[in-house]
Amino acid sequence: MADHHRKPHVIIIPYPLQGHVNPSVHLAIKLASRGFAVTFINTQYVHHHTLKALDRKPDGDGSHDIFSNVRRSGLDIRYTTVSDGLPVGFDRSLNHEQFMASLLHVFSAHVEEVVGSIVARPGEGADCLIADTFYVWPSKVAEKFGLLYVSFWTEPALVFSLYYHVDLLRINGHFGCHDCREDPIDYIPGVQPLQPKDMTSYLQESETSSVCHQIIFNAFQDVKAADFVLCNTVRELEPSTVLALQEQKPFYSVGPVFPEGFTRSDVATSLWPESDCSQWLDTKPRGSVLYVSFGSYTHLSRPDLEEIAHGLSLSKVDFVWVLRADIVSSNDVDPLPDGFKQELGDRAMIIPWCRQKAVLSHPAIGGFLTHCGWNSILESIWSGVPMLCFPLLTDQFTNRKLVVDDWRIGLNLSDRNKTTREEVANKIARLMSKESRSEFKNAVEAVKKKLEEALMPDGSSTRDFDQFLMDIKDRIH
Ligand code: UDX
Repeated sequence: MADHHRKPHVIIIPYPLQGHVNPSVHLAIKLASRGFAVTFINTQYVHHHTLKALDRKPDGDGSHDIFSNVRRSGLDIRYTTVSDGLPVGFDRSLNHEQFMASLLHVFSAHVEEVVGSIVARPGEGADCLIADTFYVWPSKVAEKFGLLYVSFWTEPALVFSLYYHVDLLRINGHFGCHDCREDPIDYIPGVQPLQPKDMTSYLQESETSSVCHQIIFNAFQDVKAADFVLCNTVRELEPSTVLALQEQKPFYSVGPVFPEGFTRSDVATSLWPESDCSQWLDTKPRGSVLYVSFGSYTHLSRPDLEEIAHGLSLSKVDFVWVLRADIVSSNDVDPLPDGFKQELGDRAMIIPWCRQKAVLSHPAIGGFLTHCGWNSILESIWSGVPMLCFPLLTDQFTNRKLVVDDWRIGLNLSDRNKTTREEVANKIARLMSKESRSEFKNAVEAVKKKLEEALMPDGSSTRDFDQFLMDIKDRIH
């Protein structure tokens, strides 16, 4: 039962992947800035990695949790950790299926224990559980402890809509069959006709019994019981999709949730130490450098990596490439072609990880070769940087459709295992050429304006967030 004398208390549990932790941290800060008490629960694995990354930074002594700084400035954010069911040293990148299986089958018992202990703390209690939509258990945990359940969706509304209507896709023969229809999908409420190739990778597979499929089916069953859904998108980017979802559920588009001081980092969320390439970028002309990154966990095939590497080299464009050690597989020491780095000399910075928002917003950056992770797209738009799209997995195919077909702020590369070094070089040259740079630049600036306007005091995301706060307080009291 809610204690009316204390401030509302929410418990936030992000999915334990970089692209989900980042927006959840920003959401936590937004809520705490509006007078909420927040308990943020990271998995022990994520906690361990963020502290390890911090240790190597000059300003972090590694002894505090990631919210120490904002707590010192008065925000009420508490922090605790939970086991994801696997030892901290377990290689989750190499054994992704096993990691996902643990999240599907084992994680909820650990979460229940931790949430139970928070709720039972004398004089504290809690009102609401905010959990990533990809979890399969939030409605049960929330119900068990008498909490409201807010589902946090960190990808575009369009992707939410496809998963939410997976039964429609199945009934209409676009999913779950060996010989699925190839014509456009034109019956999802609020969604413009969509080619099957633009669905998420999981919805394009004929084999549907994988762990990831089980997660999606169960999670989107569970979200039907959510009291509220928060989505890290902007209404003006996906108007009809957002509207249709609002007819189904209390659905709020509150993005982008990253802080307005975009490159400031009061909270260090990186799971890996960030290399600094700002001095190198300072030496490069405005808009001349391509930034290349494929996010935090998707892998490239070795042939694709080689084509991309040679394409970058052929393009003659300078570039920063975030090349994770596990980009091809965890065992690769240096996956690049022999002599590649030496050949390039000062043309390239190849680093394992960086402070992406700072790199994207550096004036020298003129384009982004991206896997189309949703955070990367929002960050690229915010920085006014057009994209060259090479989706690899999950929502990235649908996100690419938004970038290339709907907003026209980027170019496509051919799909995995089909792109060639010549295509990579030509498309980079096209993206970075003076003429198309100004064409794409104007388009991306127009989309950026929508994001900025959404965050203004009377903007759509601000209004949705305010409405969410009012609605949640109404339900608590
Ligand atoms: C995953 C999915 O792949 C993505 O499709 C989904 O939309 C979110 O979850 P990820 O692949 O990591 O995320 O991509 P993305 O969404 O782009 O998130 C990566 C985050 O890591 C971004 O916030 C980016 O700023 C950050 N990053 C990336 C760094 O801080 N440094 C880097 O070197 C690379």
